[in-house]
Amino acid sequence: MTAAEYFERLYAESADPWQLAEREYELRKYALTTASLPRRRYRRAFEPGCSIGVLTGFLASRCDELLATDPVAAPLARAREVVPDNHVRFEQGRVPDDWPPGEHDLIVLSELLYYLSAPERLEVAERVNRSLGPGGHLVLVHWRWPFEAATCTGDEAHADVRAVVDATCVVEHVEADFRLEVLAAAESVPSG
Ligand SMILES: C[S@@+](CC[C@H](N)C(=O)[O-])C[C@H]1O[C@@H](n2cnc3c(N)ncnc32)[C@H](O)[C@@H]1O
Repeated sequence: MTAAEYFERLYAESADPWQLAEREYELRKYALTTASLPRRRYRRAFEPGCSIGVLTGFLASRCDELLATDPVAAPLARAREVVPDNHVRFEQGRVPDDWPPGEHDLIVLSELLYYLSAPERLEVAERVNRSLGPGGHLVLVHWRWPFEAATCTGDEAHADVRAVVDATCVVEHVEADFRLEVLAAAESVPSG
């Protein structure tokens, strides 16, 4: 089974396979994730792997523009109902290949990186380097324990990306079950 088939099948069996909209664990993690954003407002944000848009809904109130993507159509249909805001766009797409052009000041990779192969994680990190603007923030948040569908643990995924991304860690929150990090790209130096 390919990765695409795996996720298609999960969503065919359940509208919310991880119970993202219900589990107290997830809702608390989303609250910690949004509370960790160093800036009140972001101009242009990207959240790949958005599923049914629960985290998207929390991010929406902090962003002028937010693009959220997922390779599977079914959760996107539900996400559009849950987050009908005009400044939020949901599109079908898979990273690293379907990466939006232009500069972003917020990129959120939540419970996604361990579904990618090591070369795909590297490509994601390189794309982050190309699209995160000066002073922009990258959020990484992942479950820490191994599981069958994962190519690595959350800690390993964070280490892979941090090794490549040209940004400094400004928030680090580690619990038994998940790791949350916010990395900041360098501010641009005014030319004299
Ligand atoms: C565990 S859910 C995480 C949802 C959300 N990011 C969160 O933290 O609540 C993982 C999602 O990633 C999507 N996904 C899997 N591979 C992907 C890829 N290569 N690019 C983008 N999304 C992907 C799946 O379809 C699924 O909806």
